[in-house]
Amino acid sequence: MTTLWDAVGNTPLLGLASLSKRTGCELFAKAEFMNPGGSIKDRAAKGMIRDAEAKGLLKPGATIVEGTAGNTGIGLAVLGIERGYRVVVTMPDNQAREKYEYLEAMGADVRKVPVVPFANPGHFYHQAKALSEQHGWFWANQFENPATGDFHAETTGKEIWEQTEGRVDVLVSSVGTGGTLGGVSRYLKEKNPKLEVVLLDPLGSGLYCHVTEGKVEAAARRSPRASASCASPRTSAVRASTRRCG
Ligand SMILES: Cc1ncc(COP(=O)(O)O)c(C=O)c1O
Repeated sequence: MTTLWDAVGNTPLLGLASLSKRTGCELFAKAEFMNPGGSIKDRAAKGMIRDAEAKGLLKPGATIVEGTAGNTGIGLAVLGIERGYRVVVTMPDNQAREKYEYLEAMGADVRKVPVVPFANPGHFYHQAKALSEQHGWFWANQFENPATGDFHAETTGKEIWEQTEGRVDVLVSSVGTGGTLGGVSRYLKEKNPKLEVVLLDPLGSGLYCHVTEGKVEAAARRSPRASASCASPRTSAVRASTRRCG
């Protein structure tokens, strides 16, 4: 029998024939929707649970708490509950209804909190930390937990290298916590130091502003035209691929 735990990863690498033809690049996409919880965040969840178990931080019957916009919570619920843990998630209350319903159907205890700026103690991230301190629960803390990047290096990075037979020269990834981009690029750069890594984030990305301007803000949420410099990650990524493959 294959468990949900065992079913994480080893996803197909799909060749994108029509886009490859149009761009002149050989383009592939990793089918992360085929993970048991339906997203790449199952890998983060498995990596964090595995690491916590190895360190003795998760004992049988323990409670895992996490602040999440949804997918990490789904991963923790799908995998954590299978392993006998209780899973509590704090989530902003503006997410798609299906996410809450899915989490509850999986058996997670969902605590919705109002959408507030990160500096506010009511933010879902701080609320997860506070619950962990209050009840002695294990806080997965995906944003600062190196186990996510380590797991991506060990699995996603290795899989991409093997599936491309070492012919990968550009990695394009979106970023939430950075666990995927950090871990996969770490593995692939060890194999190919010339690897080009492109962080592709929506227009107005807070991370792009952090790197270029030293401040954390999401321009697109304030106004689509709020910052000309924060509007450039999308064009940078397009230019990179045009230069290499055009
Ligand atoms: C579907 C999906 N893909 C990618 C990401 C980003 O991954 P990471 O947190 O590893 O940067 C997230 C969440 O942040 C996600 O939910």
